[in-house]
Amino acid sequence: MPRRCILRMCHVLALVLCVSATEDFDWTKNERTSFYYGTFPTGFSWGAGSSAYQTEGAWNVDGKGMSIWDAFAHKKGTISSNDSGDSSCEGYYKVKDDINLMKDIKLNHYRFSISWPRILPSGLKSEHINEKGIKYYDDLINMLLENKITPIVTLYHWDLPQVLQEKYGGWQNVSMVNYFNDFANLCFERFGNRVKYWITFNNPWSIAVEGFETGEHAPGLKLKGTGSYKAAHHIIKAHAKVWHTYDIQWRSKQKGLVGISLTADWGEPVDLTNQRDIEAAERYIQFYMGWFATPIFNGDYPQVMKDYIGRKSGQQGLGASRLPVFSPQEKSYIKGTCDFLGLGHFTTRYVTQKNYPSGLGDSYFADRDLAELVDPKWPDPGSEWLYSVPWGFRRLLNFVKTQYGNPMIYVTENGVSEKMLCTDLCDDWRMQYLKDYIDEMLKAIKDGVNVKGYTTWSLLDNFEWDEGFSERFGLYYVDFRNKNKPRYPKASVQFYKRIISSNGFPNQREVESWKRKAVETCSSSNQLLAADPLIGHMEMVTEIVVPTVCTLCILLSAVFLMFLLRGRL
Ligand code: NOJ
Repeated sequence: MPRRCILRMCHVLALVLCVSATEDFDWTKNERTSFYYGTFPTGFSWGAGSSAYQTEGAWNVDGKGMSIWDAFAHKKGTISSNDSGDSSCEGYYKVKDDINLMKDIKLNHYRFSISWPRILPSGLKSEHINEKGIKYYDDLINMLLENKITPIVTLYHWDLPQVLQEKYGGWQNVSMVNYFNDFANLCFERFGNRVKYWITFNNPWSIAVEGFETGEHAPGLKLKGTGSYKAAHHIIKAHAKVWHTYDIQWRSKQKGLVGISLTADWGEPVDLTNQRDIEAAERYIQFYMGWFATPIFNGDYPQVMKDYIGRKSGQQGLGASRLPVFSPQEKSYIKGTCDFLGLGHFTTRYVTQKNYPSGLGDSYFADRDLAELVDPKWPDPGSEWLYSVPWGFRRLLNFVKTQYGNPMIYVTENGVSEKMLCTDLCDDWRMQYLKDYIDEMLKAIKDGVNVKGYTTWSLLDNFEWDEGFSERFGLYYVDFRNKNKPRYPKASVQFYKRIISSNGFPNQREVESWKRKAVETCSSSNQLLAADPLIGHMEMVTEIVVPTVCTLCILLSAVFLMFLLRGRL
C-alpha cells in the first residue's frame, strides 16, 4: 500500500476518534453516567473553604462588634436547637492547628472570610478600627503563606455589623454601598500586599432571599416580593463600587483579582421536548444566578426577570416594577466588574411551568411561575435540599461559559453534608459525591469551560446557619460537645488528598483503590472519636472533681485541727 494511502487512512481514523471523543463530551446530550479518567491542567488549584461566623467563635472577644448573625442566633426559636456560632469550632484560637490540617491534605488554597464587625465593630471605618481583629487576620494570612497556601478572601459572608442593621436597615439601605466600600478599602490597604484573590460577596442570592424574603436567615425579614430585589440591587452596586476601588487605587500596586461568588443550582426541564418546561428551567437559572451575573457581565438584569416581575407588578396595580431599575450610567459602571467568577454549586432541580396567579400575594418565588421537582432516586445523605446530581454541575459550568463570555471560574463551594447524629467517619457518600462532581468539572474543562480552581465546602463541620450544628459539611468532624472542639478526619480527607496529589483521576485501577484505602484509615479515627466522651469525662474529673475534692479536704482538715487544738487548750 502506498505511504500516502496509509497516511490518509491514519488521518481518517484519527478524525473518527476525535469526533467520537467530542461526542462523548457533548454536554447537551443526555450522557450522565460515564466516568472520565484524566487529569486537570497543570497549576489547577485545590482548596477547602470556611467562613468567619460559621467557624471562628469568639463572638465577643478582643473588641469584636456584634453582627446580624450574633443578634439573630441569640433570639430563641430562630436556629435549630437554639444553637449559635458563639463558640462554633473555636477557629479564632486554632489557626495553627487548622493550617496543619490543610498542610496535611496539601491544599493549594484556603478560602475564608473576614468578619466586618471584628475589624470595624461599629461598621464604620471613620469610627474605630479594631487592631486586634486586624492582627488575627494578619496572622492567619501570614501563616497560610508561610505554608504555601494561597488565601482566597471573602469580604462579606453574611455577617453585617448589627449597628448598620439597626441604624439603617442593612442591605435595604443604599448607604451600605459606601460603608461596604470603606470596609473593603481598609482590607485592601491592610492585607492586599499578601492577598491576591478577593471575593466581594458570598452567595448574594441567599443574603437577599433568605434574609429579606423568607426570613430564615439574618436579619430575618419577610418583605415578600420587594425586600430581596432591593437588597440585591444594593449588593450589586456595592460589588461594582468595590471592584472599581480596587481597580483605581490598588490593582497596579497589588496585582490581585476581584470577583464575586455566586451560588446556583442547575435547573433541568422536566420534559426536554416541552417548550414551556424548557423556558421554565431557563427562568429558574436566570432568577438564581442570572439575577447577579447578568448585570455584572452583561450590564443589566436578565430580560426574563424584567418581563415577569414587570408584568406581575402591573397586574397587582403597581405603577412601577418591583424589580428596581439601573440607570444607563449605573449599567455601564457595573458591567465588566468581575476578574473571575466564584461559583458555588451543590445540587440540581427538575423544573416545570406553573402559573402563580396574581392576587395570591407577591413573592420572589411566585414571580418565577415554575415548580421545582426532584427525582426520589437521587441520593440525599444530609441536608433535605441537597440531592447528589453530578451531571447538573457540568451543565451549569457550560451555561456560565456560554452566557457570560467564558469567564475565569474558581469553584468556591461544592460539597455534601450528613446529619448531626451521624458519627460515622467513614463517609462513603462524601467520597462518592466528590468523585462524581469533580469528574463532571473535569469534563466541563474538556468542554472548554475556564475553571482554574476547586474549593470543597468545607474544611470543618461548622455552624450551618438556621440548621445550627445539625448538618455537617466538613472533611473533618468536629466534636461540638467537647469544649476543646477536637477535629477528626473523615475518610474523605484521604480521598480528597489522593485526588489532589494525582491532580485528577489517573486511571480506573488506581482510583478504585482510593476509597478502600481511605476506609481503612477511618476506622482508627472512629475509635478515637468513640473514646472522646471518655476523654471529656476524664477532663471533667481532672478539671472540676479533683480540685473540688482537694479544697474540701483542706477545709475539713482545717476545721478538724481547730477542734483538736481547742480541746487541748
Ligand atoms: C452556601 C453558603 O455559602 C455556606 O455558608 C453554607 O454552609 C453552604 N452553602 C451549605 O449550605
